[in-house]
Amino acid sequence: MDIKEEILKLKKEKNAIILTHCYQNIEIDDVSDFVGDSLYLSRQAAKTNADIIVFAGVYFMAQSAKILSPEKKVLLPNMNSGCLMADMIDVESLRLFKSQHPNIPVVCYINSTAEVKAECDICCTSSNAVEIVRGLNTDKVLFVPDTYLGKWVENKLQNVEVITFNGFCPTHLRIRPEDIITARKNHPDALILTHPECHIEVCKMSDFVGSTKEIMEFAQKNNNKKFIIATEKGVVDRLNRDSKLNNWNKEFILINPNIVCQNMKHNTLDDIYRVLDKETNEITLEENIRIKAKNCLDRMLMQKKL
Ligand code: 13P
Ligand code: SF4
Repeated sequence: MDIKEEILKLKKEKNAIILTHCYQNIEIDDVSDFVGDSLYLSRQAAKTNADIIVFAGVYFMAQSAKILSPEKKVLLPNMNSGCLMADMIDVESLRLFKSQHPNIPVVCYINSTAEVKAECDICCTSSNAVEIVRGLNTDKVLFVPDTYLGKWVENKLQNVEVITFNGFCPTHLRIRPEDIITARKNHPDALILTHPECHIEVCKMSDFVGSTKEIMEFAQKNNNKKFIIATEKGVVDRLNRDSKLNNWNKEFILINPNIVCQNMKHNTLDDIYRVLDKETNEITLEENIRIKAKNCLDRMLMQKKL
């Protein structure tokens, strides 16, 4: 049996599911139950009946699954799968930030640890950040840890001041305005689709700015035939695969070959097989932290229309 068949067999035996983020190595899709962005995957984690969740993503995503489904075993295939942005804020720096701006609601990007979520009011992902902030009906919010997503939200809402922590995604910040200029010159017939973790200048120069899911939906529905994708390589790999499979006849080009999140690429099929077989790399959380972090995530998930 090949490794994919072995994984599928083990999954059945153990009543396990595999949740896979779109930035993962694409071959993992073949053994996955759900593939998508962080909002979609956290919803799946909250409602599954499986006994085991293998989270093919980064640590904060597996942690969010455990926060929402504490009775399940949540396994991360490779423990090196961190998120550089999530590591830019800890409880101490969050408390300092809050003390500098007292009595303002704190919105926490899901790309953060459970400990940080536990001290924030409501969570968001890049898919729903604008609606979450709008739903607070306030003229001022604190936004952690991503300064660029926070400023993009502010730009969208106009009448809300978004005070941001100074975190950022090193992968998305590798995309420079010069990349957009070069792409426009080399591919004048292409549309440029950009993730809001990118620099504000890059977003302003793009044709469309949206989360992973929004970019993928836009690319599928729009009638253009060529697209430059300004986000992580996994999105481009999946779009080109889907185009071929469904005869869209569309071409998707990564804005710059370096836009690869190395942390997202640690998980392999061998790792998935191993953790499922031995039930290792289990995510654990202190219950008091979990409950507080769950309140933060629940407030986001309860906003039904998001
Ligand atoms: P999404 O919320 O679009 O899945 O993004 C996750 C992420 O890590 C972006 O860098
Ligand atoms: Fe974190 Fe950026 Fe990688 Fe997303 S792409 S997991 S924000 S380092």
